[in-house]
Amino acid sequence: MNNNSLVSISELSRDEIIRLLELSSYFEQNPNQKILDGKVVATLFFEPSTRTRLSFETAVNRLGGRVIGFSDATNTSTSKGETLKDTIKMVSNYADLIVMRHFLEGAARYATEVTDTPVINAGDGANQHPTQTMLDLYSIYKTQGTLENLTITMVGDLKYGRTVHSLLMAMRYFNPTFRFVACDELRMPSQYKEFCDRHGIKYSEHTDFGPDVINTTDILYMTRVQRERFSDLMEYERVKDIYTLHNAMLADARPNMKILHPLPRVNEINQDVDDNPMAYYFEQARNGLFARQALICRALNINPLK
Ligand code: CP
Repeated sequence: MNNNSLVSISELSRDEIIRLLELSSYFEQNPNQKILDGKVVATLFFEPSTRTRLSFETAVNRLGGRVIGFSDATNTSTSKGETLKDTIKMVSNYADLIVMRHFLEGAARYATEVTDTPVINAGDGANQHPTQTMLDLYSIYKTQGTLENLTITMVGDLKYGRTVHSLLMAMRYFNPTFRFVACDELRMPSQYKEFCDRHGIKYSEHTDFGPDVINTTDILYMTRVQRERFSDLMEYERVKDIYTLHNAMLADARPNMKILHPLPRVNEINQDVDDNPMAYYFEQARNGLFARQALICRALNINPLK
C-alpha cells in the first residue's frame, strides 16, 4: 500500500487536516499552476458522479497534469469480466495516481492492497467519502471562521450517507455537537454513534425536523435519500420525502448558520431556499476543486508552497 493513499478520513491527523485546509485556501487564491507537469491521473468511476469526477479532473487540468479514465465502467473490460484487481494493476501501469469511486464498501481499501500507486477513495458504497469531507471542512471553516465547538445537524439518509459518516469522523478533533435527524429506517448506524461515544462527542437523535433543531444549529447538513442504496424500493418510496427544507423554516435560524449538502439534491431542499444567504451548497461544491487540488498534491508528494 502506498502511504499517500487516502481511503478513510480517519487516516488524517488533526495537523494534516489543518495543513490541507491551508493548502486548499492557497489553491483558491492560485488555482492555475504547472506543478503536475508530466503527471497522469486516472479517474475510475464505477458509479455515477458529477461533482467529484469533474472537480478532480478540473483540479488536474488546472495544475498542468493529464487525465485518463472512465465515467462508465460498462464501456471497459469490466463488462467482459475483468476483476477489480486486474483493472487496478493495469491502470497502475499508466497513471501516477488513481482516483476511484466504487459501489462496493471496501473497494478503495482493496485497490490499495493490489498496487503501489497511490489511490484516493472518491466514495465507496455507503462507507466513506473522504475528499467530500475535506471540502466540507473547508466550507465550514470558511463560513464559520473555525471548526471548533460547532453544532452540526445532519438530516436525511444517515444510514447509507457516506458523506455524513466521513464528516462525523473528521470532526472528532474539533469538539462538535451533533444532531442526527432521520426516520427510524435511516438512523445513524450504531458504529458511528459508538465512535462518538469513544471520542466524547455529544450527539442527540431526532425524528422531528423543526425549529428546536434548526434554530440552534451552526451547520445544517442536508442529505439525499439515496435510491441506489435500497434493495427494497417500496421502503425507498415510503421514506424518500420525509424531510424537506423550505425557506420559511429558516426565519429564526442563527445568522451564522449555513446549509450544506453534498449534492445532488432531489426534494430535500426546496428551490425557494436557493436564494437565501444561508444556502451554501453550490459554493461548497466549488470548494471541492481547491480541496481536491490539495489532496492530489498530498498523494503525489508535491509541496506547492516551497
Ligand atoms: N457530492 C458528490 O459526491 O457528488 P457526485 O456524486 O456528483 O460526485
